Amino acid sequence: MSSSYADYGEIVLDHYENPRNVGEFEQPDAVALVGNPACGDQMKMSLRIRDGVVEEARFKAFGCGAAIAASSMTTTLIRGMKLEDLEKITNRTVAEALGGLPPAKLHCSVLAEEAIREALADYRRRAPGRLAAPDRSRVPMGPGSTDQTGAERK
Ligand code: FES
Repeated sequence: MSSSYADYGEIVLDHYENPRNVGEFEQPDAVALVGNPACGDQMKMSLRIRDGVVEEARFKAFGCGAAIAASSMTTTLIRGMKLEDLEKITNRTVAEALGGLPPAKLHCSVLAEEAIREALADYRRRAPGRLAAPDRSRVPMGPGSTDQTGAERK
């Protein structure tokens, strides 16, 4: 099913024609590359995170206009957001912020939700190494240290 310009609201068209925060960081704190197997569209999201807050978010999208608009809107939504609030963002949050998407294009906002999930997972994978550095002098060496560093949530 195809959609025409007339199917999209003003906010969607604005973010499609003037996407915000396009690009990536040389040394991101978290990266996600997600794709929609049905259409082949892809989105890459890069985050800079400081003190548990998304300081900056950028994206690159190889996809439809709705995917570009959803990616752009997502980066504006999550900047300045705490990581625990990031987990609450769903594709509906993104679609609503865009003023809605045509039903046939709702799945495009799922890319944005998946990118956030994957970026958070990537951040957690990287976190143990980065968190160890500043605290090295205070973390006891040896078997006892597993109590502090092994408390991974499943
Ligand atoms: S049609 Fe593939 S993400 Fe929109």
